[in-house]
Amino acid sequence: IRMIKIAPSILSADFAHLGDQVALVEKAGAEVLHIDVMDGHFVPNITIGPLVVKALRPYSQMRFDVHLMIEHPERFIEEFAKAGADHITVHLEATPHIHRAIQQIKGLGLTAGVSINPATPLDGIKYILDELDMVLIMSVNPGFGGQKFIPAVLPKIEVLHRHLDQMQSSCEIEVDGGINLDTAPAVVKAGANILVAGAAVFACADPARAVQELREAAQG
Ligand code: DX5
Ligand code: ZN
Repeated sequence: IRMIKIAPSILSADFAHLGDQVALVEKAGAEVLHIDVMDGHFVPNITIGPLVVKALRPYSQMRFDVHLMIEHPERFIEEFAKAGADHITVHLEATPHIHRAIQQIKGLGLTAGVSINPATPLDGIKYILDELDMVLIMSVNPGFGGQKFIPAVLPKIEVLHRHLDQMQSSCEIEVDGGINLDTAPAVVKAGANILVAGAAVFACADPARAVQELREAAQG
C-alpha cells in the first residue's frame, strides 16, 4: 500500500505569519509543503515567487513541492531550484515543450511532475509517463483556494492509477483542489497518494489538528 502524504498549501495561510504557519503543519506531521505559484496569465491570480521559497527554506525540512501555474514555466525552473524547491510541477497546458521542461527539472536534481486541469484528458502525458515522478490531477480550476471539488476527475485518477500500476511505475498521484474530510476518502480510493489541502488546513482555527484529521480520513 502506498504511503499517503499530506501537502498543506500555503495559499490559504496567513502570509503575515508564514513561518509560524509552516512550522505548525510540519510539527503536525505534514510531509510536503505545497507552494502555489501564479502569474496572472496562466491563471487569473498572482501569488508568490522564488523569494518566498528562499525565505522559508531554512525554516523547514518538509519537501517543497512547487506548483507552477505560469506560462512557459521553463523560464523560472532554475530560479525555483536555486531557491530551495525539492520538486517542481509544471502544467501540460502551459508549454508546448513539456518534455523539455521535465528534463530541465530533473537535470537540476529535483523530482518532476506534470499537472493537468480538470478538462484536460490523460492522453497528453501518455508518452512522458516514464519520465515523471508525479502527476498532479487538478480537482478544481487552478487560480484560487477554497473552491469546490469537481467529482468528474475521480475516474481520471482511477484510469491513471491503473495504468501506472500496470507499468509498475513508482510515479505518485497528487490531487489538488477542494480536498477536505469529505472528499479525501474518495480520491485515495481512486488512487491518489499525495493530498493537497489549502482551506481545509489553513482556514481552520487549528491547522495542526486539521492535518491529523485529514490523514485519518485519508487512511480510512
Ligand atoms: C489552486 C491551487 C491549490 C489551492 C488548493 O489553484 O493549486 O493548491 O491552494 O486550495 P484548496 O485546498 O482550498 O482547494
Ligand atoms: Zn496547487
